[in-house]
Amino acid sequence: MNKKTTVLPEDPRKRDPDIFTEISSKAGEAVRQGRPLIEIKDLHKTFNGLEVLKGISLDVHPGEVISIIGPSGSGKSTLLRCINLLETPDDHSILFEGEDILSPRFAVPEYRKKVGMVFQSFNLFPLKTALHNITMGPVMLNKEPRHEAEEKGKRLMARVGLSDKLDAYPHALSGGQQQRVAIARALAMDPDVLLFDEPTSALDPEMIGEVLNVIRDLARDGMTMLVVTHEMGFAREVSDRIIFMDDGRIVEEGEPEQFFSNPGTERAREFLSKIIRKETPRRFRRR
Ligand SMILES: Nc1ncnc2c1ncn2[C@@H]1O[C@H](COP(=O)(O)OP(=O)(O)OP(=O)(O)O)[C@@H](O)[C@H]1O
Ligand SMILES: [Mg+2]
Repeated sequence: MNKKTTVLPEDPRKRDPDIFTEISSKAGEAVRQGRPLIEIKDLHKTFNGLEVLKGISLDVHPGEVISIIGPSGSGKSTLLRCINLLETPDDHSILFEGEDILSPRFAVPEYRKKVGMVFQSFNLFPLKTALHNITMGPVMLNKEPRHEAEEKGKRLMARVGLSDKLDAYPHALSGGQQQRVAIARALAMDPDVLLFDEPTSALDPEMIGEVLNVIRDLARDGMTMLVVTHEMGFAREVSDRIIFMDDGRIVEEGEPEQFFSNPGTERAREFLSKIIRKETPRRFRRR
């Protein structure tokens, strides 16, 4: 079911060239020539003899927003972790801007800067202020002058709606605020693509919306994103494409409207009916 039937989104650079340059990429030559930013071809990943990714193929184009959904243990996090090399894929199956990420010549530290990741559990440094959390990467890894990194950090804090929390320590921020700082921190490295692994799963319900709004804005501005999520309404509204995984494989992929209103596989239908039953309070459910 990995046939590429997707209609690509309009190139975001046409929509707003300035914003695209500001938040996203200096996409490489391969991408300028129309190649995908990330090409995954038959990715396998095995842990101690247990194969958890069983041949994943997926192209990610600049400006695309892809939601990855599927049951627990289906390999969603492992897929993201292989993409940013937190795990090593079994084979040479991932190209970034046309380059094999496992090639000995591939510049892994540079790559890590281009591929930002936002985790479920925020992972902020507890003894640093919000602004300091954001400026550390640019100053230490990108060697940006501190005052420039701070100016950028303040702009990014404004962007995620937290201009009044620059000096706050993580413990003094709500979960939703911490996650927004974590997103600003990822953006500070000027990534080409952002990977989100269930960014709202650890949040109280009233804080989910504020984090989803930030991701929604990034989508609008043309950021390339892969988002593992259980927020089906969000996935339906924001994504260009839905990937449904089960048991280490992409079982189905398609445009959100088609996927949610008329899934093509029994497995996806069953998954959606369970999730939607969980999301819908009993009193609103049809009998
Ligand atoms: N480092 C590891 N060592 C051994 N097994 C692992 C490791 N990481 C993941 N697995 C196994 O790989 C499978 C897929 O895990 P993964 O975390 O990718 O699933 P997931 O789809 O993200 O699930 P969830 O929705 O619960 O987060 C699981 O069976 C898990 O136990
Ligand atoms: Mg996971």
